[in-house]
Amino acid sequence: MTRVIVLNGPNLNLLGTREPATYGTATLADVEALVRQRAGGLGVEVEFIQSNHEGELVDAVQQLAARADGAIVNLGAYTHTSLALRDAFLAVPFPFVEVHLSNLHRREVERRHSLTADLAIGLIMGFGPRGYVLALEALVAALSDG
Ligand code: DQA
Repeated sequence: MTRVIVLNGPNLNLLGTREPATYGTATLADVEALVRQRAGGLGVEVEFIQSNHEGELVDAVQQLAARADGAIVNLGAYTHTSLALRDAFLAVPFPFVEVHLSNLHRREVERRHSLTADLAIGLIMGFGPRGYVLALEALVAALSDG
């Protein structure tokens, strides 16, 4: 069975109450339920990991290959700042889809650059929680393409 890890970074544990005008009112548990429902239909096993800590996220990236076939990754603000997370994906290349709830190109300029985007299979942004489901579908299709 295909195994997918959904890795969420800082402040995404606060979804639901965090800046609802930007991120909506669904909680991370709601996002997880949505993804699990679709994963069931696709016959995919999913594991959710969230951390507010850069080093823990680096550890998680280093362990992806041992635990899954692909990943859906939203590194939150570390997307724009973390060379360490970029280096982790360079050190342990792994197929992932990068997701952002918001459309980064409609926001402040400092959010327009992602340090991991070029290492991803592809990106999905601006669709809120549904983006995670779209990412799952895209990832599973990409993995089966080989
Ligand atoms: C985010 C966008 C980032 O700029 C921000 O720091 C986040 C969430 C998104 O999902 O839209 O924490 O990754």
